[in-house]
Amino acid sequence: MKKIVIFYSFEGDTKMIAENIAQAIDADILELKPKQDLKSKGFMKYVWGGKAAITHKQPELLPLNKDINSYDILFIGTPVWAWTYAPALNTFFSAHLLLDKKIALFCCHGGGKGKIFDHMNDALKDNQILGEIDFQDPLKNNTDKNIEKAKKWAEKIIETL
Ligand SMILES: Cc1cc2nc3c(=O)[nH]c(=O)nc-3n(C[C@H](O)[C@H](O)[C@H](O)COP(=O)(O)O)c2cc1C
Repeated sequence: MKKIVIFYSFEGDTKMIAENIAQAIDADILELKPKQDLKSKGFMKYVWGGKAAITHKQPELLPLNKDINSYDILFIGTPVWAWTYAPALNTFFSAHLLLDKKIALFCCHGGGKGKIFDHMNDALKDNQILGEIDFQDPLKNNTDKNIEKAKKWAEKIIETL
């Protein structure tokens, strides 16, 4: 079965987790990159990024060089923005109708993941969700432990299929 890890990351946490998952389960990897990403820094990044997430903005993405529908198992990761998934995933979910896929979800946050997994489950409701896991700013906190946690989680999901 073909596996892929698909993610968006603004500051590198989700990217680090995504890369380690892909390596652990020998999956392809795809980074969603908006043509124009959030430019703000400091407090303003929360204001503009949070607004974009809450209002379900769909930023245009750079071309994806993968045939998404050819994959059976997808690991999808995002940072939490305003208690939900980042706008790049909105664009992705609208552009790719995912049906009957096996999907595992991961996110990185600063301590308040809110209902992000409910929102992701809603967006992916015609698929089988295999698992969910979250990490608190893993580049800053217990990086090695978080990498281990991510790898073990992903390996277990694949083993049980
Ligand atoms: C626009 C924006 C909104 C955020 N909103 C939340 C939030 O609602 N809850 C939370 O715990 N962290 C929030 N964060 C923090 C990030 O989710 C967290 O730092 C995450 O680890 C960053 O992942 P990344 O490095 O892959 O971008 C927000 C960050 C940004 C930039």
